[in-house]
Amino acid sequence: MSPQRIGVYPGSFDPVTNGHMDIISRAAKIFDKLIVAVALNVGKNPVFTLEERLAMVEGDVAGLSLNHIIEVTAFEGLLMDFAKEVGAGVVIRGLRAVSDFEYEFQMAGMNARLNPKVETAFLMASDRNHFISSRFVKEIGALGGDVSHFVSPKVAEKLVKRFSVNKAINKD
Ligand code: PNS
Repeated sequence: MSPQRIGVYPGSFDPVTNGHMDIISRAAKIFDKLIVAVALNVGKNPVFTLEERLAMVEGDVAGLSLNHIIEVTAFEGLLMDFAKEVGAGVVIRGLRAVSDFEYEFQMAGMNARLNPKVETAFLMASDRNHFISSRFVKEIGALGGDVSHFVSPKVAEKLVKRFSVNKAINKD
């Protein structure tokens, strides 16, 4: 039996967007197993806890046709250590505009130094999603805007709840 081709798609997913889901469904066609790795990333001060982010990704992945080859899991520490641990040869990242390039270029280069056996491969965001970012989704949500164009209904509901709770807390 030939070895499994395992890919890792890492991210903060704070929260998961339609753009992420597009990359996940396309990446799932390339690998025998795709691990969606949700970073603990304490440094980024996420709006959602790790458990909430995991649950949102799991909920959205459950609706995909290739969900049987997708595993959603948390990771902490270096991505390259995680890739080695799970036997992944490729890290997948999505690329949107040119503005993503520098950050992704640096990260791919530094990760390649840490573990040259793991390749970073990029999928271009599809035209429907190339402008979506978790950061702006949160900003729109926090300001009471309609996020339903950018995230699944379940995630939209979570955002509305999160920001209405925050508003109530801030009023007190
Ligand atoms: O969705 P994001 O926030 O752009 O994802 C960034 C992520 C989680 C892929 C990146 O921060 C990461 O890999 N973190 C793990 C720590 C690590 O390996 N850092 C070295 C990167 S060169």
